[in-house]
Amino acid sequence: MDLLIFGARGDLSARKLFPALYHLDNCELLPADVRIHALAREDITLETFLEDIKVRVRKYVDDSRWSEQQWANYASRFVYHRIDFGTADGFTELSGVLAPDRPAMFYLATPPSLFGPICEHLGATGCLIGDRRLLLEKPIGHDLESCRAVNDTVGEYFSEDSIYRVDHYLGKETVQNLLVMRFGNRFINTQWDQSCVDHVQITVAEPIGIEGRWNYYDGVGQLRDMVQNHLMQLLCLVAMEPPNSMTAEGIRDEKVKIVRALRPIDENNVRDHAVRGQYAAGWLRGESVPGYLEEEDCPAQDSQTETYVALKAFIDNWRWAGVPFYLRTGKRMPEKLTEIVITYKALPHNIFAGASREDVPNRLVIRLQPNEGIEMQMVSKQHSLRNKMGLVTKNLNLDFLGSSELDRIPDAYERLLLDAINADQSLFVGREEIEESWRWCDELIDAWQTRAPTLQPYQAGSWGPTKGELLIEKDGRSWHV
Ligand code: BG6
Repeated sequence: MDLLIFGARGDLSARKLFPALYHLDNCELLPADVRIHALAREDITLETFLEDIKVRVRKYVDDSRWSEQQWANYASRFVYHRIDFGTADGFTELSGVLAPDRPAMFYLATPPSLFGPICEHLGATGCLIGDRRLLLEKPIGHDLESCRAVNDTVGEYFSEDSIYRVDHYLGKETVQNLLVMRFGNRFINTQWDQSCVDHVQITVAEPIGIEGRWNYYDGVGQLRDMVQNHLMQLLCLVAMEPPNSMTAEGIRDEKVKIVRALRPIDENNVRDHAVRGQYAAGWLRGESVPGYLEEEDCPAQDSQTETYVALKAFIDNWRWAGVPFYLRTGKRMPEKLTEIVITYKALPHNIFAGASREDVPNRLVIRLQPNEGIEMQMVSKQHSLRNKMGLVTKNLNLDFLGSSELDRIPDAYERLLLDAINADQSLFVGREEIEESWRWCDELIDAWQTRAPTLQPYQAGSWGPTKGELLIEKDGRSWHV
């Protein structure tokens, strides 16, 4: 197979794609015939490319997995092509390299504005004969209309079953485990609906700011950067019905139904259901950090872009009727934390009333990162002669790393690249789901524009603006963290 990485000198390639391929090679999972074509604009030799990329990749490879010999084996798979993606010139040379009877995968780690031209040039120069797969990185569009335009353009050259839209959250081991946990354990699935569940929380918090990505981020904001894709995927996996099988189609069909059933957050309810915030200067791990508008590469002083979003969403279907899904994501929050918390309803009748010092409901905490695992908060008897029925809350804790044979949890890109090589689309996003997700987000963005809610400032290093706390507290609930 030929694997062509467009944008091979970019950040994503250095931080994620090449380290992931290195790890796959290291575990002998990368088929021996995979040739890696690095494509970029710079006029450099393969040796210079490799020297440079080696230093960058090294930072992302665990010490235990690194060896010079291993690197040399891996490096021998590479070919470097200098190519200007915007013009057809270099693509003719590529067509001479690709054989119609050898599968080829094109990974577009480029700005989305290049997706169209690249596909067009590949088509025009005869590169698309045989088994050809396309991998696309987000953002795919800026709204429904532009997303459709991208899908239409790439769809002229690739059929839907050869397009792999990457949402790296789907490649995370713990995210896949959500499916196994839900559909591989009977007792969990039977307690998974409005009759038992009080509410669901999904939090994706990051301590990092925008890391020199102001130009990209300021035109996008947290809703488009995180909610439209990653949080939406998590929501779908939590809420969807069991698919008939683990096929891409089976899973995608169920996810689309959830996005379609999401109640709109529009101008009628936006004030009560959505909060936008932007970080101001503050403190993180004892160090002072600048506010969003004071970031080094910030050219404007008046940006209204949100770096925090909290939402209260409802899924209008039989299973989830009346169950709020609280979603929260932000930059410059106190820690890296991605978790899903299912809070169960109170007991229908508590025969231990008065015995318990704390009245804590059952909670299932699914920790996606860090400390990947699942925690079930249960009520248990306190061992005591004096206090016959004293109750305490105990955690059943399933620690994934601790309980696996692996000494590391594979990175999401390892899973996704391996699946694409094996032509398995089940962890990639389908056209319909991404477009439906944009439809829902567009409505919310429109409502934000018409109702112009004030952007709530929050201190860097805090859990977000007070209004984000109030969003859930006014319902008599609170964020898990
Ligand atoms: C990316 C966003 O898709 O996901 C970034 O563009 C964000 O803004 C990142 O930081 C978070 O990914 P992870 O895997 O570190 O949780």
